[in-house]
Amino acid sequence: MSLHVLQHPLAGHLLAELRNKVTRPTEFRRATNQLTTLLAIEATRDLRVRTETIETPMQATEARVLDQAIAVVPVLRAGLGMLAPFTELFPEVAVGYIGLERCEETAVARRYYQKLPNLSGKFALCIDPMLATGGSASQAISFIKEAGASRVIMVCIVAAPEGVEALTKHHPDVEIYSAALDEKLDERKYILPGLGDFGDRLFATP
Ligand code: PRP
Ligand code: URA
Repeated sequence: MSLHVLQHPLAGHLLAELRNKVTRPTEFRRATNQLTTLLAIEATRDLRVRTETIETPMQATEARVLDQAIAVVPVLRAGLGMLAPFTELFPEVAVGYIGLERCEETAVARRYYQKLPNLSGKFALCIDPMLATGGSASQAISFIKEAGASRVIMVCIVAAPEGVEALTKHHPDVEIYSAALDEKLDERKYILPGLGDFGDRLFATP
């Protein structure tokens, strides 16, 4: 299993804010943004670079610059809360969107929207805060691969063991970056201890 769980103390602190049921939407959005910044840095640590000669005000020197086209694909709705850190860190990033919604009874996700750029040869990051059954992520990554991505990474905030297992089964080549690996799913397929419904807390839609 290719699961990377953030170990930074700040990640734990921000996750505690997200988990806490009294956290208000403004703080929830800010903590999501900050935690995603840590995840984005970790998930892109082996981006390809090339060496260029640049002139400092003092002299010429060799510098390493990014040399890989990347794309980020938030899964609507909740994945939108994780988008800004990627566009801030990587201004050239291509952005695609996939809308998926779980059925309340079956927890099976249904696609209602898709707008993906040509992802040929691109390193694509699929972003969705909750990896519960893994059904949404598995579907989203299939669509991203169909659009041509050469490599895909899954970035989430809370992962359930069931979701990690399902995603690894469907897409064994995909590495997962998460801020937490939680205990299990409940009978409604919500993550325990989790943080509740991420989309509702992010968009204040109880
Ligand atoms: C949530 C979450 C994931 C999905 C995870 O979205 O953001 O997309 O559930 O569950 P899974 O791993 O079992 O598929 P939801 O369907 O609630 O839609 P929303 O983002 O619009 O709230
Ligand atoms: N979606 C959420 O928002 N939370 C969960 O715990 C599971 C799916």
